[in-house]
Amino acid sequence: MKPNVLGEKKNMKDEIFQIDFPTEIIHEGDVKVLVPELEAFVKSPSEYAPSKAPVFYNPVMELNRDIAVLALQVYQRMLNREISVCEPLAGCGIRGVRFAVEVEGVEHVVINDINMKAFQLINYNVRMNGLSKCVTVKNEDANFLLGSYGAPSRRFDAIDVDPFGPPVPYLDSAVRALRNGGFLILTATDMAPLCGVHPKACIRKYGGKPLRTEYCHELAVRLLAGSLAVTAAKYDMGIRIVFSHCTNHYIRIYVIAKYGAKKADENIRNMGYILHCFKCFHRESVSKIFIINHPINCGDCGSKINVAGPLWLGKIFDKQFCKSMEKEAKRRAFKLGKRIRKMLTLIENETEAPITYYVIDKLCKALALPTPSVKMVVAALSQEGFQTCLTHFNSKGIRSSASAMKIKEILRGIVNVNR
Ligand SMILES: C[S@@+](CC[C@H](N)C(=O)[O-])C[C@H]1O[C@@H](n2cnc3c(N)ncnc32)[C@H](O)[C@@H]1O
Ligand SMILES: [Zn+2]
Repeated sequence: MKPNVLGEKKNMKDEIFQIDFPTEIIHEGDVKVLVPELEAFVKSPSEYAPSKAPVFYNPVMELNRDIAVLALQVYQRMLNREISVCEPLAGCGIRGVRFAVEVEGVEHVVINDINMKAFQLINYNVRMNGLSKCVTVKNEDANFLLGSYGAPSRRFDAIDVDPFGPPVPYLDSAVRALRNGGFLILTATDMAPLCGVHPKACIRKYGGKPLRTEYCHELAVRLLAGSLAVTAAKYDMGIRIVFSHCTNHYIRIYVIAKYGAKKADENIRNMGYILHCFKCFHRESVSKIFIINHPINCGDCGSKINVAGPLWLGKIFDKQFCKSMEKEAKRRAFKLGKRIRKMLTLIENETEAPITYYVIDKLCKALALPTPSVKMVVAALSQEGFQTCLTHFNSKGIRSSASAMKIKEILRGIVNVNR
């Protein structure tokens, strides 16, 4: 999109007077935006500044936004035509403005926030970046906005739902406002429910039971994906998760959704459960159909087995999509480029790997063993012919086709050799 910064200066003078709180200009990616001056809103260092300010802005989410730019660009190149994008919960508008400026082939962006002060700031930022012709700014409830884009001719190619907490309240309207083959991006920041600290809240919101396992972040992604799969199926839409990632504070999934009853049936076939033994670390996935007859004790040690789900058992990354994102990342000079490239390499390597991961220091603690390096464990398992790789979910995590029992045997072996 070609910004027209000079042509927009005139109107900006009036708009800056509407903004009645301390602000500053920051640079992120290829844009500059006016954001709340966070320091002015916190009384003590322990306060979470982004939510104290009159308009939400979180500088820590730069990595998250960089990745969104990469993924949207890869998606646009897949379509090879101009695309329309919506950010229904935008805060100061930085994400939508970045999409408009940094993603080639973006024809139109709708940036919306229910907060009037956010709306004013977004308008200012759109003008400051010369984007008035290609960006529409709205001040609506996100569901109302998405609902008004539900007619087939009005739907978006891509929607990035980035709320506080769970995205669940917006799933139906986002799916309905998405074109056939559209790209839906979801953030969830409610990690306490999703990781099993508040299981009832998770069941209520996502329709699946979480577990406080060492791989709870992957379960969180699968619970969110499962919730979307069930919602999309209601509208005869099948989903394909092409990318997902997690930091300590949030998860994001990137999904391509296509119409078709058969594709939607496939969503349901991809739903199931993960059974986990807290005593011996054994885990397995089972499809919905078999859960009723499944023994409730661990097959390895006989202890009580715990169940997570129903959740998404299908793929949570696509190798080709990740490769294209890596290629795209190399073309761009992001401030956080090194960290992003490292993360993308880890994710690309885990795209075809077994479901769930083992966390080496947790296993070693349970076995009262010193912790060897993760690389050493990967090498030992690979040497024995097991498909094994690292995971971006946890720096001490490994995915492996080996059973928990085998991994423990290998850990004991490594420690004995090094004694
Ligand atoms: C996490 S912030 C968005 C951050 C932004 N996407 C970014 O990348 O910086 C969530 C935003 O949703 C807005 N919001 C909350 N409820 C809303 C609703 N029902 N409709 C529209 N916006 C809403 C809040 O005002 C807030 O600005
Ligand atoms: Zn067991």
